[in-house]
Amino acid sequence: MKSVTDTYTLSNGVKIPSIGFGTWQVENGTQAVSAVRTAIELGYRHIDTAEGYGNEESVGEAVRQSGVKREDVFITSKLWNSEHGYKRTLAAFDKTMRKLDMEYLDLFLIHWPNPIAFRNNWQEANAGTWKAFEELYKAGRIRSIGLSNFHRHHIEALLKTATITPMVNQIRLCPGDTQDEVVDYSRSQGMILEAYSPLGVGRIFAIPEMRELAAKYGRTIAQVAIRWSLQRGYLPLPKSTHPARIKENLQVFDFELTDSDVRLIADLKGAAGYSSDPDTITH
Ligand code: A2P
Repeated sequence: MKSVTDTYTLSNGVKIPSIGFGTWQVENGTQAVSAVRTAIELGYRHIDTAEGYGNEESVGEAVRQSGVKREDVFITSKLWNSEHGYKRTLAAFDKTMRKLDMEYLDLFLIHWPNPIAFRNNWQEANAGTWKAFEELYKAGRIRSIGLSNFHRHHIEALLKTATITPMVNQIRLCPGDTQDEVVDYSRSQGMILEAYSPLGVGRIFAIPEMRELAAKYGRTIAQVAIRWSLQRGYLPLPKSTHPARIKENLQVFDFELTDSDVRLIADLKGAAGYSSDPDTITH
């Protein structure tokens, strides 16, 4: 990992930039257009949005305004929870593409495995959704397809009817929240792990050990956490609306954490909270 243009290679050969710009809680309109445009100007080539974030329109607009060619930016979006099932998924995908105003998507994810609306039939709903994902993928409308917030039992259920194995699982991964079981199982199926909330949605900044490590390496806490994420083999998706931080969060390719510090950060159990249980979420 030497530079911001480094990539991971997905199981289908598609290359994905090793850091993405997260847009959860970035408000549609001026804020999102400006943050995403700034990110692209500063070197990000991977933007992570979702129907559920409500800012797909602004992401599309920012990419166009940036002047960078569409094929040079990797764009991810996610299917929202109310739209599981074959037909709803196809319609929701069209809606996402209209909002982005793009011809194709680089990666489409099922946002949550077990939304409240499908709690009694999530396996069947996901099977229908995945069939739609596979068709859209084969038709060339999406370059890669994957999951988010899926645990082992959700993946196993999906694989019963899948003909294409998901290429990505995007989950919450940050100092002290390493979801080892999900990571190990997803990797055993050939998936890349994307790390959402790599800064614990801001909670890592209050962890004394993170402060000490930042001082030790002469870096910021955010940089130590993002570097840690890369050294764990995750694909971090840091979010910020401040240009200086957006820039800072990319400056992580010119230092290295020792193996023992990588372990120390993993072992800060719960210091930045834990991920929600996808089987009991209320959305
Ligand atoms: P802001 O958007 O105001 O910059 P995560 O990526 O884990 O979701 O964390 C995002 C949170 O961390 C946001 O509150 C964001 O605030 C803050 N943040 C992002 N980058 C930095 C940074 N380099 N230094 C301090 N805070 C940051």
